[in-house]
Amino acid sequence: MNKNKKPNYKLRRKVAKYVFIMLILLPIIIINRTKIFNFTIYVPNMKYSKVIDSMFKANYNKDEIKNTLDYLKKKKKINDNTSNYILKLNSKGYNKKTIDFLIKNLNKSEMTEFLAKKYNKDYEKYIANKLFDYSKFDRYLAYRKDHKDLSIDDTVWQIELNMDKTYYDDSELIEDPDNILVLANKYYEIPENYVPNDLVEMDDKYANNQYSRMKLRKEAYEQFVKMCDDARKDGVNFYAESAYRSYSYQKSIYNNYVYNNGQAKADKYAAKPGFSEHELGLAIDLANVWTITTKGKEYAWISKNGYKYGYIFRYKEEWENVTGYSAESWHIRYVGSDVAKQIVKKNMSYEEYYIKYIKNKKN
Ligand code: DAL
Ligand code: ZN
Repeated sequence: MNKNKKPNYKLRRKVAKYVFIMLILLPIIIINRTKIFNFTIYVPNMKYSKVIDSMFKANYNKDEIKNTLDYLKKKKKINDNTSNYILKLNSKGYNKKTIDFLIKNLNKSEMTEFLAKKYNKDYEKYIANKLFDYSKFDRYLAYRKDHKDLSIDDTVWQIELNMDKTYYDDSELIEDPDNILVLANKYYEIPENYVPNDLVEMDDKYANNQYSRMKLRKEAYEQFVKMCDDARKDGVNFYAESAYRSYSYQKSIYNNYVYNNGQAKADKYAAKPGFSEHELGLAIDLANVWTITTKGKEYAWISKNGYKYGYIFRYKEEWENVTGYSAESWHIRYVGSDVAKQIVKKNMSYEEYYIKYIKNKKN
């Protein structure tokens, strides 16, 4: 027998030893879910929270807090970092909810950065907001400096909408333009080649087709027909003066406004191509021989009943700062009856509703 072919027992023993160690270590790592490499400081399955809760409720003094944290450390319920951060945040004056959030969501460098800031009561309000995102903290503060009257809630959702960025230039490209609930505005851009694949032609009964046959997405059109018919039964008459617009048609409208009124004014009246919800096939400009005004019975009827057919007014005077357009009492948008009902109830701009209840489903 060849001596060289003898198995290498030494190596085998070594491998077996490491496999054995890993078999013990792996479950411990998995159970603790400790993110060793990016230094996450919160260990989710360690139930320290109840003890901390009572600590805050009983209004412990500094020594009592320190003793409690030392006890939790000894019992391995929290680690050194967590204990230090709780102590520091508590002595700065932050409440339990804020501390909990920060411990759970910030990494080491973010925590160091936050601890360098002076205590500020507003920070607690920002952090308590459902949409709060620590990575956007500096943007909230800078935006509110320029908009002193804005509430903290408005600041947070408006940053989520990117309202601190330059509209049109820093826009986000819409990923799902076919979604009935899509938001298209000055910060959310429709892909240039997008054409809805379920456009239907509108009947003369419901649209002014004298220049070209108007189109709308099927679902929006079916509901529009029902809405017009029901309104007419109530003696209220309106029809579409403009509905789906292609990118190039929107371009000619916008350029025309720029030519006649200059860029600044044009931006208040018409969307740049790529940014108009008419390009989605979900928006209609209404008329009843003349344009619809807020004083007319058509506006009143739609305000009261439009949501049942899924339609909302999109550009009201009180939302001009958010939409970036002058009020348009003739422009309606299809969003479906469930969402339309909520929006009317809340009297919210679609921007605010979209950010709070559609994009970030935390509310
Ligand atoms: N007039 C509206 C804003 C549009 O052009 O879509
Ligand atoms: Zn319009």
